[in-house]
Amino acid sequence: MEEILNVKIEKLDHFGRGIVRDRGIIFVENTLPGDVVDIKITKDKKGIKEADVLRYQERSKFYRESICPYSLECGGCNIINLTYPEQLQYKRKKVEELIERMLKENIKVKDVITSDEEFNYRNKITLHLDNKHMGLYQKKSNDLVEIDRCALVSERINKIILRIKEYIKNNDVIIYDVTIKTTTLEEDMIIVHGRLDYEKFRKEFTDVKVIIINDQVVTKDQYIKERILDEEFYISNHSFFQVNRYTTKLLYQKVIDLIKDEKYEKCLDLYCGTGTISLLVSNYVQKVYGIEEEKDAITDAKRNKELNGRDNVEFIWGKTEDYIDKFSDIDLIIVDPPRAGLDKKTKDNLLRIGSSRIVYVSCDPATLMRDLNDLKRDYKICEISICDMFPNTYHIESIALLEKKR
Ligand SMILES: C[S@@+](CC[C@H](N)C(=O)[O-])C[C@H]1O[C@@H](n2cnc3c(N)ncnc32)[C@H](O)[C@@H]1O
Repeated sequence: MEEILNVKIEKLDHFGRGIVRDRGIIFVENTLPGDVVDIKITKDKKGIKEADVLRYQERSKFYRESICPYSLECGGCNIINLTYPEQLQYKRKKVEELIERMLKENIKVKDVITSDEEFNYRNKITLHLDNKHMGLYQKKSNDLVEIDRCALVSERINKIILRIKEYIKNNDVIIYDVTIKTTTLEEDMIIVHGRLDYEKFRKEFTDVKVIIINDQVVTKDQYIKERILDEEFYISNHSFFQVNRYTTKLLYQKVIDLIKDEKYEKCLDLYCGTGTISLLVSNYVQKVYGIEEEKDAITDAKRNKELNGRDNVEFIWGKTEDYIDKFSDIDLIIVDPPRAGLDKKTKDNLLRIGSSRIVYVSCDPATLMRDLNDLKRDYKICEISICDMFPNTYHIESIALLEKKR
């Protein structure tokens, strides 16, 4: 007979799973610190175990009901049951643990930047289809959880989800996936892959500004527009854009606050996307160079430069690591890489250039700490703050300010 254990969850790990120590470490999904649960071990690899909850005997004092009917199955919002103040505490502690363990420094998180909106914040969702069932993949699998709505996306997106579901039900189509993007200016984009009548789909969604089917734009327009801190930005199909419609402006404001008290001549904005940070900091810097590898994004960045009337910004299409060695005499560098963080060549060049300040915007605190550990040879880490771009999930956006040691 399988062993059933009765345990009390001690804390959450860095992926939002409960941890308990009982003859080794056991990770238990869907639990919170203080939960008393009956569990069944499902995996055991050299004393590192995973378990499922069979019964909750007692719930944590930080527990709250989930507002999403799919959250247990879908797993995307893996800390949705944690009260929001406690989510922020968890994120702060997680970053401070990483600072201590990886940086071996006694730095506390300075600011925890958050907006009042912990739901309906996302401006983008990608849904997958299995026959005519549309939904999200369960964590680490291709098993579909059919949904009618998602608690994290804007209500505008939820309405489009229902309309697309209806269209699929009533038409002879085979759709593989659908991405919906919206902006606070109420401009929408639908990106579809599959076998369907392009014209019929377009006519059904005439109110949607941009429709892209199998990489072909079938509408007059090909980009949607967003406004952040009084600047406007075009966003195309493959361009990255920050997903939180409420906290993105707070994140960018933090970047501005970190640099605005000094006079800089030349700034590098590495991994610049659609040029958002480049254009926002161009008000405070004489010349900005933005580098980005995604063609759609750099095309948007160049358009955004025109749209906002800036002539002190230059955008370069290419990989950061292929261009960075051409730069020297830069006094400010801003980096905002993907989760993988900075590669060695880029870090070596940051040390070679030796700008007086580096602002590092990161969506993975573990790779941030790894990179700061390499940069701290020549840089003092002045502050690390976090911005809650991803409420109800374990993901964390951090911003670090580094100053060249004298
Ligand atoms: C986290 S996003 C940041 C974008 C932008 N700073 C913003 O706030 O919207 C990272 C960007 O890096 C780009 N990217 C990924 N690898 C790159 C590389 N090796 N060189 C240049 N850009 C890269 C991605 O296409 C994406 O646009």
